[in-house]
Amino acid sequence: MRQRRSRAVYPGSFDPITNGHLDIIERGLKVFDEVIIAILSNPEKRPLFSVDERVAIIRETYRRNPRVKVDTFSGLLVDYAVKVKATVIVRGLRAISDFEFEFQMALMNRRLNPRIETVFMMPAESYSYISSRMVKEVFELGAPIDALVPKAALKRLREKKAHR
Ligand SMILES: Nc1ncnc2c1ncn2[C@@H]1O[C@H](COP(=O)(O)OP(=O)(O)OP(=O)(O)O)[C@@H](O)[C@H]1O
Ligand SMILES: [Mg+2]
Repeated sequence: MRQRRSRAVYPGSFDPITNGHLDIIERGLKVFDEVIIAILSNPEKRPLFSVDERVAIIRETYRRNPRVKVDTFSGLLVDYAVKVKATVIVRGLRAISDFEFEFQMALMNRRLNPRIETVFMMPAESYSYISSRMVKEVFELGAPIDALVPKAALKRLREKKAHR
């Protein structure tokens, strides 16, 4: 019997991608055949990295894994999911503090399109305190972040710092 491949979308800003994101993606790959990392292009958020830079970092990180794709989107996430034929949205839950916002978003997305299911994954405890914002902040202040982000992100962060 031929089974249809399952495809999940993992949306976020990934400015830049961290080892916490990688942990969620790895867990997603245990359950779904393909994970599309979908970068929301939201100019209002004043990102450190352009969308193209964020795509490049993720491409480099997953260049050896054909089951992970990277893409960008704007507009409604559920519309994007339909467009790329994904049936699931993956999100990560670090702590109770993530819960309220994620819960609202999941229910809103369900209302917008009941055929798309949101799945939450919990990271390893050692990643549960990592966010892109925190990584950028401590790096700016001179802390080592080698264990917090993939190599490609570290390289770009160093370049950004050097060019300022
Ligand atoms: N360390 C982590 N462990 C588990 N889930 C995470 C982790 N970091 C981010 N996520 C989840 O990944 C998704 C995308 O998050 P997002 O791109 O906003 O990352 P972020 O690290 O929270 O960035 P920012 O600090 O800019 O808000 C969200 O579901 C978020 O909860
Ligand atoms: Mg966040």
